[in-house]
Amino acid sequence: MSNNIDSVLNETRVFHPSDAFMRQANVSGMAGYRALRQEAERDYEGFWARLARENIVWHKLFHTALDESKAPFFQWFADGELNVSWNCLDKHLATQPEKTALIFEADDGKITRITYRELHARVCQFANALKSRNIKKGDRVVIYMPMSIEVVVAMQACARIGAIHSVVFGGFSSKSLNERIEDAQACAVITADAQMRGGKVMPLKSAVDEALAMGRCDAVHSVIVYRRAGSEVQWNSRLDVWWHDAIAGQALTCEPEWVSAEHPLFILYTSGSTGKPKGVQHSSGGYLLGAIVTMQWVFDYKPDDIFWCTADVGWVTGHSYVTYGPLAVGGTEVIFEGIPTYPDAGRFWKMIQQHKATIFYTAPTAIRSLIKLGGELPKQYDLSSLRLLGTVGEPINPEAWMWYYTMVGQSRCPIVDTWWQTETGCHMISPLPGAMPTKPGSCTLPLPGIMAAIVDEAGNEVPGNQGGFLVIQRPFPSQIRTIWGDPERFRNGYFPKEMRGAYLAGDSSHRDADGYFWIMGRIDDVLKVSGHRLGTMEIESALVSNPLVAEAAVVGRPHEIKGEAIVAFVVLKGTRPQDTAAIKKTVEDLRNWVSKELGPIAKPDDIRFGDNLPKTRSGQIMRRLLRAIATGEEITQDISTLENPAILEQLKQAIK
Ligand code: PRX
Repeated sequence: MSNNIDSVLNETRVFHPSDAFMRQANVSGMAGYRALRQEAERDYEGFWARLARENIVWHKLFHTALDESKAPFFQWFADGELNVSWNCLDKHLATQPEKTALIFEADDGKITRITYRELHARVCQFANALKSRNIKKGDRVVIYMPMSIEVVVAMQACARIGAIHSVVFGGFSSKSLNERIEDAQACAVITADAQMRGGKVMPLKSAVDEALAMGRCDAVHSVIVYRRAGSEVQWNSRLDVWWHDAIAGQALTCEPEWVSAEHPLFILYTSGSTGKPKGVQHSSGGYLLGAIVTMQWVFDYKPDDIFWCTADVGWVTGHSYVTYGPLAVGGTEVIFEGIPTYPDAGRFWKMIQQHKATIFYTAPTAIRSLIKLGGELPKQYDLSSLRLLGTVGEPINPEAWMWYYTMVGQSRCPIVDTWWQTETGCHMISPLPGAMPTKPGSCTLPLPGIMAAIVDEAGNEVPGNQGGFLVIQRPFPSQIRTIWGDPERFRNGYFPKEMRGAYLAGDSSHRDADGYFWIMGRIDDVLKVSGHRLGTMEIESALVSNPLVAEAAVVGRPHEIKGEAIVAFVVLKGTRPQDTAAIKKTVEDLRNWVSKELGPIAKPDDIRFGDNLPKTRSGQIMRRLLRAIATGEEITQDISTLENPAILEQLKQAIK
């Protein structure tokens, strides 16, 4: 076990839920939590079967909860039939048709509210538009859209007809989009002319055009374009249709396609240890169950809540806690098109005040940047509607946690630090806010029915407070089913033999004396940059595809706001630029290149040049050494095996 997964934090503050919160909570007190855990331990399948019966309306009830016969390709509720969109919309029509489902706030502050009745009608109408374009159950549909009511409609409409959506974050480049369309063999793309962020118009349709022009997207027969910004677009009349034309004349009802619980609901691409992103495939029944129970347990959802998750639908958080979870429980939620700093760093707080949000869920990186830009700003707003706060996506440092707790939550609101992943579909380790005492920086304890453990390389549980690999020892309903088109990568990556059937999460963690989990970071070559998951190999391949570059190695460096910053070490094909101006120009060219290849989120913060990369005699890049150089640490490791020690001086030179 390498040193960097030894525990370093020593946080001793503990915050107990108030009596008032505990009394009203869906899971009340540690006794409530333990009762659920024990139920799951006594009868694991029976526990999940009970929850699945109680929380999902089945078209045909399942008989078997868990089928392990094809492990690790586990199946849940497979002989049951349902429709996810029906469970999010139709289910509520009889009881609360006029309840607001979505409160959409645009970048410019314009607010649009839509009821369950209206949302249902719009989803049906768009589903009919998809059907009329011959899009059917099992077809893949790529969605590349801004945060909007329409993106929720598009995802729900796919679910309604059994088409498998694959949302691509609007910040990804046309090249990334091309790869995802190709890998999924998508037959349609749903996009917008442009998106509005921070007062700027950022084109989307042109990226789709470029992606399709790159080739290998022959399966695409339709591009549906929502007019958001009114900007000029190129038009290909063979493929393109405006959203408003596609829905014109379509009926406002649409019989859902009843699918097996194992029917794929969506694919979502995420980064791993290789250059190629993996298409994480989720199921319908198990995934929906995870989204619903975590809305109840973790977010303590109540019918009069105003729920706001700030994540973009391009990430899993936006799937589970924007498009599916909040609607499946019949909630009212805020969705936001813009950015937290526009027109100023008070935007989130102003929106909480205006919409009277009760539950607020965001990323540590957003919290850190808002502390920096206006640590006192929350005081200027009425945040008294809030009752619960959450974080996701990366470890939260205790300082940011304390600020969030005191300044935003006014020392009144519990914080749920939710650990989970694209692959797990929903929260796995998190406080239940009316039960667990919280500690800043810890995601506390596994949810009921989630058998999380920390093990060594041989799969043996490590003793208390020792670092190790985070695993989940029993299959759970919302977990990844496979990697689209690559079952072997799924098996080898998540269920390696040494883990003896447990799911290997890819994170390291330790547990304290109370059994609380403290996540320490990734064990693979995955970075978390502003909460975005990026593979170092992906960035390296992007760099190497530049004609100037011979070789590249990318590492992460701790960053005050972003969590991690990207540092690239590059060997050029020609000679190394010598003077500052030449270095600066090459750095800028390469940063822009990566932005074009992968998207602006993957731009390296720092690029250093050397005549070589530090390698062992057997040719391995010495990444630990590069990490030390990137952080400016003193080099303590053995460099006697290094082939060319002189290059260390070159690589240390950062250009500001
Ligand atoms: O390293 C963990 C970190 O984010 C990874 C998953 O990233 P992604 O698939 O993009 O999903 C993010 C949204 C669920 C994990 O392997 N991570 C996520 N939540 C936390 C976290 N690290 C520490 N604390 C968390 N609460």
